[in-house]
Amino acid sequence: MATNIIEVKNLTKIFDVGTNQVEAVKGISFSVREGEIFGFLGPNGAGKTTTLNMLSTLLFPTSGTAKVAGYDINNEPDMVRKNIGMVFQEMSLDIDLTGKENLELHAIMYGVDKKTRNQRIMEMLEIVQLTDKANILVKNYSGGMKRRLEIARGLLHYPKCLFLDEPTLGLDPQTRRSIWDHIKKLNEEYGITIILTTHYMEEADALCDRICIIDHGEIIALDTSENLKGHLKGDTISLEFENFKALKKFEAKIKDFAGIHAIKIITPKTNMRQMLSKMAAIRAQMSGGKKPPAIMMDPAKHDAMSKMMRSLPTKMNIIIENGSEKVASLIKIANDSGIKIKSLTIKQPSLEEVFIHYTGRSIRDENGSRGATMREIMQRRMRSVM
Ligand SMILES: Nc1ncnc2c1ncn2[C@@H]1O[C@H](COP(=O)(O)OP(=O)(O)OP(=O)(O)O)[C@@H](O)[C@H]1O
Ligand SMILES: [Mg+2]
Repeated sequence: MATNIIEVKNLTKIFDVGTNQVEAVKGISFSVREGEIFGFLGPNGAGKTTTLNMLSTLLFPTSGTAKVAGYDINNEPDMVRKNIGMVFQEMSLDIDLTGKENLELHAIMYGVDKKTRNQRIMEMLEIVQLTDKANILVKNYSGGMKRRLEIARGLLHYPKCLFLDEPTLGLDPQTRRSIWDHIKKLNEEYGITIILTTHYMEEADALCDRICIIDHGEIIALDTSENLKGHLKGDTISLEFENFKALKKFEAKIKDFAGIHAIKIITPKTNMRQMLSKMAAIRAQMSGGKKPPAIMMDPAKHDAMSKMMRSLPTKMNIIIENGSEKVASLIKIANDSGIKIKSLTIKQPSLEEVFIHYTGRSIRDENGSRGATMREIMQRRMRSVM
């Protein structure tokens, strides 16, 4: 059983903004296990950066406390800083220096011994694959290279945990994936505990052992991606049958199958209106006691009828708990009844759906943020007094 490297109790941050108070973090409690990748997922203004800044001792909490690597953030901030690395949300490199010079500056600030300094810098540059760019000015680096250099800088003093505030914000998908690979490598090969924040569902999903959904300064949910998705109604099994008859037969067979929340027949949109109006016409003629409509008598119209029949639904979605476990039994039911399934797919709920489920809104909604400028100024000020 892994020990906790971070333990947070009732952490609160209230900012005074003029005569108003902004409660950015509202008494949150959680723990992070040694060796895990732990992610804060939330929209703009949720309180992610504020939480990270308190844990990394950049900001004093208004109340509450936390232990990071065994040290109290309020009483032992120096020891906390020795054990953590931090990569800020906003770029904080000196672009007029080379990559190597940026790391040298940081190593001196952190008191890395002169004898080991160069070797350690080269080691970190190697980890983030920037060795060949060491002597190039940072102003000539790409966005992804700058981010990797910031990660290298955060690792210079061999921290036990690394805080990454929005590690891939604004990067293109390919660069983002390469940063993910670096983060995974740090965690798997070097055993570094990673605490990151992100807006990106797919990032949290791809990287994090556990995800803490945060909104308006409060923890909404905290679990593995798998379990968060599991709390939703269920998986969707999409089936396609040879024809409408097979679909109806299967629907009747699975009526009492355990764990099914809903069966949704997918109605083909095209031709449906036409078919319904013809059906209505047929019904009207029949009920009026007239002879069967022409469509039923005329062979040419038969073709039209069978074409219409082909436009009857052949696809269904089954919303079911633990879909992947149940699928074999469902296929068996079809086989035993001679029903041919043309195609079958299983889809778990997405993290986006999980977020909507817990917060009632999409993660892409942007509200609650006072904008980057304010935070940037504050973070720079805090950094300058560190
Ligand atoms: N220095 C500050 N002074 C006043 N309010 C602040 C300050 N820093 C943050 N806030 C406010 O606290 C709340 C949380 O901000 P925070 O930066 O922690 O959010 P976030 O989740 O990191 O957002 P983003 O995704 O935009 O980075 C927001 O309402 C923000 O406007
Ligand atoms: Mg932030």
